[in-house]
Amino acid sequence: MQSLSSSLKRSLVRARVSNATLRYASSQTSSSSSDQQKTTSFGFQTIPEEAKESLVKNVFDSVASKYDLMNDASSLGVHRLWKDQFVTDLKPGRNGPLKCLDVAGGTGDIALRILDYAREKYADRETTVEVVDINAQMLKEGYRRFKQTMYHNTPQVSFHEANAQELPTEKFADNSYDLYTIAFGIRNCTSIPAVLSEAYRVLKPGGTFACLEFSRVNNPVLSTLYDQYSFSVIPLLGTILAGDRTSYQYLVESIRKFPPQPEFAQMIRDAGFRTGTDVDGGAWTDLWGGVACIHTGVKI
Ligand SMILES: C[S@@+](CC[C@H](N)C(=O)[O-])C[C@H]1O[C@@H](n2cnc3c(N)ncnc32)[C@H](O)[C@@H]1O
Repeated sequence: MQSLSSSLKRSLVRARVSNATLRYASSQTSSSSSDQQKTTSFGFQTIPEEAKESLVKNVFDSVASKYDLMNDASSLGVHRLWKDQFVTDLKPGRNGPLKCLDVAGGTGDIALRILDYAREKYADRETTVEVVDINAQMLKEGYRRFKQTMYHNTPQVSFHEANAQELPTEKFADNSYDLYTIAFGIRNCTSIPAVLSEAYRVLKPGGTFACLEFSRVNNPVLSTLYDQYSFSVIPLLGTILAGDRTSYQYLVESIRKFPPQPEFAQMIRDAGFRTGTDVDGGAWTDLWGGVACIHTGVKI
């Protein structure tokens, strides 16, 4: 009876995910009737769906060694405050050690904060974080960084190259994590519903999905200022500090293509998660008027 009801639940979730995929795909992708080629957005460009992963990989190959410096320069250090709040709100370690998966974890900013928070607040040295990223260069930077920390060579942290859309089941088993985090990563993935479906699969029932991502600014004055800043300053800094304008132009454009808060909250529910209501402070928490945003959901 138990397994019947859980497999039924899974089928329902799958059906919801396929519907969500169709809804999202029809807003983000299109197919020409003549050749049926599916397209998607890469920043403001429309490209064949299958090309996105390698283009995104090229972007992060190119920015990996300057990624942390550029993050600080382009956000004037504000990304650190957002990441601090993201982790503080989750309170890792408060109810005992957690098994965490930080997907699109890049250079390990979130993983380090989770481990530091659990240790400093709750003297917890048993919480673990597995950092997953599709890009080996970003993981290499993360590994190098963790070498300077007390977590290096401990079971508390590990690095894995994998695609968020299809985490290998033998390594990332069903119902096995307490906390799944993804920060500034999901907008780079070709299929958001596929990422959410994998997050749902690997979390334990009652486990938390938490996403930090750039989002939609609703105040028109702030939105205009933000647009002017991001479209002029960030690509320019990319040129000066990293010698790469194109990658930073893509990163800014990809922010504008990401679904607004209520739409993304619905996608999280479509994947099977329970969220708060569709208001700031409910399903999501806006940071800086929506420049960035934290979404959470609980696996039921
Ligand atoms: C903007 S960085 C964010 C890194 C880190 N989470 C942070 O907040 O600093 C985005 C990361 O997403 C990774 N990424 C993009 N597509 C991915 C995918 N399909 N699966 C896993 N990681 C992916 C990139 O390689 C990159 O490291």
